[in-house]
Amino acid sequence: MKLILLGPPGAGKGTQCKRIVERYGMAHLSSGDILRAERAAGSELGKKAQGYMDRGDLVPDDLIIDMMIAAIKKAPKGYVLDGFPRTVAQAEGLDAALAKAGERIDAIINLQVPDEAILSRMTGRRSCPVCGAVYHVVNLRPRVDNRCDKDNAELVQRKDDTPAVVANRLKTYHEQTAAVIGYYKRANTIVAIDSNKDVDQVTADVFKRLDALDG
Ligand code: AP5
Repeated sequence: MKLILLGPPGAGKGTQCKRIVERYGMAHLSSGDILRAERAAGSELGKKAQGYMDRGDLVPDDLIIDMMIAAIKKAPKGYVLDGFPRTVAQAEGLDAALAKAGERIDAIINLQVPDEAILSRMTGRRSCPVCGAVYHVVNLRPRVDNRCDKDNAELVQRKDDTPAVVANRLKTYHEQTAAVIGYYKRANTIVAIDSNKDVDQVTADVFKRLDALDG
């Protein structure tokens, strides 16, 4: 299965993608995670992306399109795209690459959350630096305070989850990424899911749509 998960920062894309991948077995291709890995490795791409990410601005399209098309090529059995495409130019770049390969996306899911719910989700987010598991200090607590359930590593807070950077990420989303929804709506391929609900309820709603495709 080839999927795209859209939604504003903090909509729960990463959280739901991890559950989708566990159930359906495709690759999870998160542009944010790939960029953070490039930064941690000190690569040229990571160095170029750093300033944009720390401010909450988008990394330039040409860098992102090349990076994500390369990742897609390494996932022939299917994937869920998380955080990409984030501009109409990126969506067009993806469409061109898919057309060249004779492939198509099976479903595009748009996780919807109002802006008011987002700040507390982001500032309360904690992640495992070892396995990437995502928690929340109130909504999705680990079994032991500040320790990952899977590997007991100490949880960390992302640098771009401060209130000022979150505000800029939301502004960037409305100015540049919301148009991607219009792009896919025109092709009638987008499914809206209310993500302002309990995490498990959102997962159940997503699985219901995907089971219909998988069956
Ligand atoms: P990226 O890492 O993609 O960040 P994002 O899209 O802003 O999304 P997040 O990862 O912050 O949120 P999420 O939707 O995955 O939510 P999560 O599941 O963690 O991008 C970071 C930066 O990289 C960008 O700012 C940009 O600079 C650059 N970049 C990346 N892709 C790019 C691209 N394509 N083009 C250009 N630049 C790019 O959940 C958040 C929290 O809420 C968690 O604590 C979770 O436990 C909690 N939560 C989840 N679901 C629920 C729920 N239903 N109810 C209550 N709490 C919930």
